[in-house]
Amino acid sequence: MNSTTDLFDKCLAFDDAKRVQAAGVYPFFRPIEASSGSSVVTHGKKRVMIGSNNYLGLTHHPRVQAAAKKAIDTLGTGCTGSRFLNGNLVLHEQLEERLSHFLGKEACLVFSTGFLSNQGAISSLIGRNDVIYSDRENHASIIEGTRVSIGDTVKFKHNNMEDLERVMAHTRHKYEGALLVADGVFSMSGDIFHLPQAIEIARKYNCRIYVDDAHSLGVLGPKGQGTETHFKLSQSVDIVMGTFSKSFASIGGFIAGSADVVHYIKHKARPFMFSAAMPPAAAATVLECINVVEEEPEHLENLWRNARKMSKGLKSLGYNTLDSQTPIIPLLVGDDFLAFSFTQKLYEMGVFATPVVRPAVPEGCALIRTSYMASHTDEDLDYVLDVLDKLGREFEIIGNKEREEQLAILAETHFGHTVA
Ligand SMILES: Cc1ncc(COP(=O)(O)O)c(C=O)c1O
Repeated sequence: MNSTTDLFDKCLAFDDAKRVQAAGVYPFFRPIEASSGSSVVTHGKKRVMIGSNNYLGLTHHPRVQAAAKKAIDTLGTGCTGSRFLNGNLVLHEQLEERLSHFLGKEACLVFSTGFLSNQGAISSLIGRNDVIYSDRENHASIIEGTRVSIGDTVKFKHNNMEDLERVMAHTRHKYEGALLVADGVFSMSGDIFHLPQAIEIARKYNCRIYVDDAHSLGVLGPKGQGTETHFKLSQSVDIVMGTFSKSFASIGGFIAGSADVVHYIKHKARPFMFSAAMPPAAAATVLECINVVEEEPEHLENLWRNARKMSKGLKSLGYNTLDSQTPIIPLLVGDDFLAFSFTQKLYEMGVFATPVVRPAVPEGCALIRTSYMASHTDEDLDYVLDVLDKLGREFEIIGNKEREEQLAILAETHFGHTVA
């Protein structure tokens, strides 16, 4: 060990992002000046937004905006403390009750963010002799929860039920309690977790099931109640986790399950107990979003109409979309730098999308993550398809048989998705 090393040397040496910035293709931290939800103004120019998680477009719904403003008038702008102590609002408790009812669960607990919900719930449940079975493509907040936990984590191949069964058969006997954790809809590739098969396997090995419905709420199921309802199941997932930062147009997160489990997490999860509560306007926003979702089914219908149109359109242009079945439609491009350059060109042509590069995906498997909203118009979407047609050919991601075949092999090898 060299004790003369300065702690900050690594910061001076870190130049990954600086190199992308110097090349003029840095796609992160773009400051938004104005937004209508489906379009944003950045660097003085209006651009179609296909990089957000605002699936139902409710951030700009007049009823939702009015509820948020009213909450500020009656309760102020912040809670200035944790719910445990001075920051618990009647609004938080109303929200928990509404959500429990909406999801058909006994109880619910609202956290300040989705990230903290995963980190807090997973780490408070897992003891020294317990094990977490975690999908390899799970969200970073789940990974954080597994890292903070004092028990072991065993990973299985992405959405691969044979591998899940294999790892459980080999390891389950070594532990006391077990928790299977997976995203309901995977945030980057947009595929849906094979929940019915996973439930069968988990039950066989006496393992509890925890599903992160961040991208399924407001999206899957007849009313947007998430992955369980998508598969016409009920009471089979032990803990549903969700976030308010996507379809519910706000910020915050929750877990829902049996009253005893929720009560335990409420008194054990440090990120819940020692972090300030969701602000009044944020809680009121979510409550009104649930009302809107229940009373105005057209938002969910429009979301799926738009998602289907784009899935069909992008596939017919020749893009490899990893056969996504949801409004998250990734475009496989391969190389990281190509993904940055492609995103930059899209941006210049008025389309705001985001690249996904390593370590979020394996090396050489970069994606452009596109996602669609209920409030996109046909004009918006046709424009996006036109731009993607033109640029895809220019960058030889589409329109080149050899390249399309290479990408199909990548999809099969690294994501386990056969292209339909
Ligand atoms: C699958 C998944 N889980 C959890 C989170 C964290 O949610 P939040 O942004 O509310 O902290 C996200 C956010 O991107 C997510 O995609």
